[in-house]
Amino acid sequence: MTTTTAAPTTGVPVIGAGVTRVDGPLKVTGAVPYADDLAPRDALVGVLVGATITSGRVELVDTTDALAAPGVVAVLSHHDAPRVVRPDEASSDERAPLPPFQDAVVRFRGDYVAMVVAQTREEALHAADLLHVTYDVDEPVVDINDPRADREDDDPAGADSVRGDLERGLAEAEVEVGADYVTGDNTNNPIGLFAASAEWDGDALHMWATTQWPFNVADCLAEAWGIPREDVRVECPYLGGGFGSGLRPWPYIHAAAMAAKVVDRPVRVVLSRPQMFTGVGHRPETVQRVRLGARRDGTLTAVEHTATIPVAVDDDNPENVVSGTRQGYAVEHLRADVDQVRLHISPPGSMRAPGEAQGNFALETALDELAVELGIDPVELRLRNEAVTNPDQDDLPWSSKALDECLRRGAELIGWDERDPSPRATREGDQLIGYGMAAVSFFYFQEPCTVRVVVRRDGSAAVHCAAMDIGTGTYTIVTQVAAERLGLEVGDVEVVLGDSSLPASPPAGGSGLATAISNAVALATSAVLADLQLSGAPGREALARAVGDRDKVTAEATADKPDPAELGMSPSGAFGAKFAKVRVDADLGLVRVERLVSVIDCGQVLNERTARSQVVGGTVGGIGHALLEHTVTDLHAGPQTGRITNAHLADYLMAVNADVPDLEVEFVGGPDRLNPVGVKGVGEVGLCGVAAAIGNAVFNATGRRIRRLPITPDLLL
Ligand code: MOS
Repeated sequence: MTTTTAAPTTGVPVIGAGVTRVDGPLKVTGAVPYADDLAPRDALVGVLVGATITSGRVELVDTTDALAAPGVVAVLSHHDAPRVVRPDEASSDERAPLPPFQDAVVRFRGDYVAMVVAQTREEALHAADLLHVTYDVDEPVVDINDPRADREDDDPAGADSVRGDLERGLAEAEVEVGADYVTGDNTNNPIGLFAASAEWDGDALHMWATTQWPFNVADCLAEAWGIPREDVRVECPYLGGGFGSGLRPWPYIHAAAMAAKVVDRPVRVVLSRPQMFTGVGHRPETVQRVRLGARRDGTLTAVEHTATIPVAVDDDNPENVVSGTRQGYAVEHLRADVDQVRLHISPPGSMRAPGEAQGNFALETALDELAVELGIDPVELRLRNEAVTNPDQDDLPWSSKALDECLRRGAELIGWDERDPSPRATREGDQLIGYGMAAVSFFYFQEPCTVRVVVRRDGSAAVHCAAMDIGTGTYTIVTQVAAERLGLEVGDVEVVLGDSSLPASPPAGGSGLATAISNAVALATSAVLADLQLSGAPGREALARAVGDRDKVTAEATADKPDPAELGMSPSGAFGAKFAKVRVDADLGLVRVERLVSVIDCGQVLNERTARSQVVGGTVGGIGHALLEHTVTDLHAGPQTGRITNAHLADYLMAVNADVPDLEVEFVGGPDRLNPVGVKGVGEVGLCGVAAAIGNAVFNATGRRIRRLPITPDLLL
C-alpha cells in the first residue's frame, strides 16, 4: 500500500491520500487540550470511594474523621448527596448508568459509596482512608454459571433471530459440528485516566469530561438535573484513548457535577487505574454455543449461535454477540439467540467491536472446525457460502461488498498455498508453525449527524460539530472532506469538534462516525455552495468573491440514518479477512504471532494513513484479545468476593511491541454506493476476526482446538 509522506499543499483531491493528521503537531508537542486540561485550575479535587463488599447495603458512612482531616471540604454519600433523575441514553431505550449516591444499595464491588472533596488529591486520598463505612452484607452472585443467577431471555439488543427452520436445516446436513466457546472479561485500558470537572453558574452546568459522546453526556446531565439543555455544556475535544469506554455517561461524571453543586466551586475528579476497571465499562465474558450443518460440498444448511452474557444489576448493556453470524453467510436456516445473566459485577459496556469480537471468535472457529471435518479449505468454505445479498435484511443487495476479494487477496499475501492443512505438520526445531484465517462481516451503524459549515470572507472555511475525535483521525478526515468539496487546501479548513454546544452528533463509536459526519459535511458544503450560488469545488478565491461583503456564510445540514427499504439496498458495514501465521513453542505452549494480514473493504478510504492506523491498532487489540487480555474476578477462592484480582497495568496483560509483528494491511473494494462520500466505518473491523484467525492458526500448528479466550500457554500444555 502507498502513502504520501506529506499533506498536499495545493489543490484537490485530498481524499484517499495519506494526508498527515491535522492535529499531529499539537499531539507531538504535547499541546493537545484534553478535557482535563481545559478544566478550571482552581477546582477542588474529588476522590471516589468504592464499596469493599460485592452486594448489600451501606449502613453508615461515618465522615467524622475524614471531615476533620486537613484540606477536606466535603464528603458526599447517599446520606446527603443531591438527588438526580436517572437519565436514558440518547436515541435509545436503554437506561444510562445509575448516577451514584442515590440509595444505600451496593450492586458490585467498587460501586461508589462516597466521594471526598479536598483542596488537593493527596488530602482527598488521605481523608478517604479515614472514612468508616459499615455495610449490611448480602451473598453476591458473580459467576455466570451460578444457577442462582437471574437469567433473562428478553432480547434487549434485538439480537435474537430465526430464519427458516433450524431443525430442517440440520436434517438436510450431511455433516454437523457443534461446540461451546468461552471468552473472558476484558477491560479497556486507555492510557488517559478518565476525568471529569464541573462548574456551576447558578443553574447552568459546564463540564469537561472524558467521553466519546459529549452531546449525549450533556443530554443526560440536563435530564438528571431537570435543567434546560441549553444550560449544559460538555467539552471533550480530545481524549487519551477510549475504545468504547467513553460511550456512556458514567457515574464519575455525575459525581463531579454533584460535588461542584454541593461545595459551590469547580470540582475535578480523576479515576485511578483500578477504578478504570469498574467505573467505565468492560467487555463482558461470553458463553456461546455454535452448531453448523453442511452438505459434503461445504454448503451450509443450518447455523445456530446462542450466547449468554452477564449484565450488571439495574443496568442495560446491549451486547449483540450474534449480529455477525446473522449476516455473515448465505444460510437458509438459522437461529441466533442471546440471553443475559444478571450478576453483581460492575456495569459492562462497549469495548472495541462489542459483541462482534466475541461472536466472531465462536463462529469463525466453528467454521474452521467444519472445514477440517469436510476436508475443504477454510477460505474456500467461506467463499462457497458467501452472502451475495444480506440474508439478515430481506435479502436486499449490499450497498457494497468485497469480502471475496478480501479473502482471495489475504490468502495471496500470507502465502496460504504454502500451508499444510494437516495439523501439527510443520515444525522448525521446537517451534510448531501454523496458519489460520477468519472472515468478518461487520455491522452497519449510522446515526443522524448535523454539521455546520462556515465560509468566511477570505474564502477559508470552518466546520463545527459536537462529535469528538477519539483519536482515530476525525479532525483530519472532516478537514479533508470539507477541503475537497469546497476546493480548499487542507490548511484553509478549521475543524471544531468535541463540544456539546455545537450541532448534534452521534458518538465516536460503533465504527459509525466517519460515515455520519463525512456525509453531513458533504450535505452542509452543498448547502453553503448553493447559498453562494457556486458549484463544483470552487476554491478559495471564488468562495471569497461569493461571500463578498456578507462577512461569512453559514449552512447546517443533517445526514440521516439510511432507510434500507426506501433505498432498496442493505447498508453495508466493513468486511475483512484476517490471516495469521503463528509459532507455538511445542514444550512451553507459548504462542507468537509471526505475521498478521488484514485485508479490509471499508468503501472509500478517506485517508490511507489514518485508516491503516485504525486497522493496525485494532489488530494489536485483537492479538491481546486472542492471547493475553483477561480481567480475572475472584470467583472460587473460598467465599466469592467478586473482586477483580488484576485491576492494574502490571497484571492485566496487553499486547506490547514484543507481541506484535509488522502488521500487513491492505484495502480493497471501492466507494460504497449508499452515500456521496462512499465511506464505510473502518474502526472495529480491525480487531474483529483476529482472535479466530490466531486460534485457527494455533490449531493448524498444534492440532489442539482451543475454544476459549485468551489462549494462554496452560491451555496448550
Ligand atoms: Mo467503539 S466500542 O464503538 O468505541
